[in-house]
Amino acid sequence: MITELAPAKINLALHVRARRPDGYHEIETLFAFCRDGDTVTIAEAEQDSFTITGPFAAALTGEGTNLVLAARDAFATAFGALPPLTITLDKRLPVASGIGGGSADAAATLRALGRLQDVAVEKMMGMALALGSDVPACLLGRTAIGGGRGERLTPTAALTDTPVLLVNPGVAVSTAQVFAAWDGVDRGPLGTVAESRNDLEAPARTIAPVIDDVMALLSAQPGVALDRMSGSGATCFALFDDVTARRGAAATIAATHPDWWYLESTLA
Ligand code: C5P
Repeated sequence: MITELAPAKINLALHVRARRPDGYHEIETLFAFCRDGDTVTIAEAEQDSFTITGPFAAALTGEGTNLVLAARDAFATAFGALPPLTITLDKRLPVASGIGGGSADAAATLRALGRLQDVAVEKMMGMALALGSDVPACLLGRTAIGGGRGERLTPTAALTDTPVLLVNPGVAVSTAQVFAAWDGVDRGPLGTVAESRNDLEAPARTIAPVIDDVMALLSAQPGVALDRMSGSGATCFALFDDVTARRGAAATIAATHPDWWYLESTLA
């Protein structure tokens, strides 16, 4: 049995530079990963099966094709038939929320299959991009600058052990819709993290105005070093000076917005 963590992905910064003729956008982003997320478990079995467990299982049940199965099928197409596998996805991250849930699950599936069949991660980057723009970054799984659609990856220094709090107000946001609502203004390249931004924050706020409330609450918390929206939202995150400050902020969120989802973690 092989278990792989599918960690929550955070875009510490995300600059949208241009619309491309192929319908995607040219971005410059700084990917980082948490120490918590979904898990994908695979084991050889008599016949193929796929089970989703965890607090967000219901959000995916009945969905056409899960990215986990798409990843399994892409792997088999590229590297040859797989033995029958039972695959379990423990879905702990909210769906369509800007922290790469589906992409992380696909990447974790590829990593697990790579371990099972002795295939190096580097050989799976092409199929990862075909599964989604964030899947190569999730497959690499370490702090990196991403160019192109997010697949041109340059590993960079990590903020390892930094306490982080993720907060989602319970609104699923479509990545395609948020990119489509971008105003087309190139606001310039990535600088330092502090000087950078998430250019998808403004368009996402027009689609899900509750993001304003999340950002306002996070930025008012003591001990916040950086607060921003991740990806195309609606999950926002704050980095904290220490764990005590993060715990205090989490307690405030729980008390004031019991219907919001949050995750206390640290950066990997
Ligand atoms: O690659 P992925 O399937 O995750 O992208 C979902 C949608 O988000 C795309 O169909 C596209 O509309 C938008 N997108 C984009 N530019 C990117 C990444 C995603 O326009 N760099």
